[in-house]
Amino acid sequence: MLKINNLHASVEDKSILKGINLEVKAGEVHAIMGPNGSGKSTLASVIAGKEEYEVTDGNILLDNEDIEDLAAEERAHKGVFLSFQYPVEIPGVSVTNFMKTAINQTRKAKGLEDMPAKEMLQLIREKSELLEIDRKFLSRSLNEGFSGGEKKRNEIFQMAMLEPKLAILDETDSGLDIDALRIVANGVNKLKSKDNAVIVITHYQRLLDYIVPDFVHVLYNGKIVKSGGKELAHELEEKGYDWIKEEEDAKNN
Ligand SMILES: Nc1ncnc2c1ncn2[C@@H]1O[C@H](COP(=O)(O)OP(=O)(O)OP(=O)(O)O)[C@@H](O)[C@H]1O
Ligand SMILES: [Mg+2]
Repeated sequence: MLKINNLHASVEDKSILKGINLEVKAGEVHAIMGPNGSGKSTLASVIAGKEEYEVTDGNILLDNEDIEDLAAEERAHKGVFLSFQYPVEIPGVSVTNFMKTAINQTRKAKGLEDMPAKEMLQLIREKSELLEIDRKFLSRSLNEGFSGGEKKRNEIFQMAMLEPKLAILDETDSGLDIDALRIVANGVNKLKSKDNAVIVITHYQRLLDYIVPDFVHVLYNGKIVKSGGKELAHELEEKGYDWIKEEEDAKNN
């Protein structure tokens, strides 16, 4: 589904990604871990097509199509979903209206009519129940005055509504209390299917007890320096990143 070859990217002429290779197949869950500033959010942003990042080498294929020249919205229409480490506030636009617009834009891009109001309501009801989201929450202004946990839950709600092919969750667990973490993880697990894939970026093994990854990758200094199964996350939790840094530094000397 997603194939990244030798990806190099920079922002404001500063090189950040330095040769990423990654293949994510349909039905898989990949976790990306790594120290602060290693390039995890940058990788997510580059896949999603955020404009401030410049791809200087390599390519990103989505279903064998090079998506380099596609704008972020076009990628979203093709089923790429990125949750934000720091979600934006949109005063005056309710959670529900934001979702309606997002869904209908995607349908429009596929040449479909707007979703009939009744069907939309049904979908909103179904997905908000799945994620145990309160009705009152749906009429609030997007992210305005939301607590950290509410913002995260809202992102997962957006994901549930849009049913993306490839979902990238950037630190969706940070700031969630234990119950919210479980609800969000359950939501992700229920949305998982053999046709879609998830990339979870996280600092903590804890989330991966709930969303069990097929592969864990460690990003360090703009490269994936180690990949393994879910046991790698346990090893990192236990040992930290120093041993990885040492291994890498030894390789480079
Ligand atoms: N828009 C930007 N302008 C300038 N520097 C940037 C920008 N985006 C990222 N960087 C730099 O790129 C490097 C990687 O940042 P990135 O956010 O990808 O790290 P991260 O692995 O997600 O870290 P964290 O675990 O703290 O979220 C950092 O040194 C950061 O300062
Ligand atoms: Mg980050």
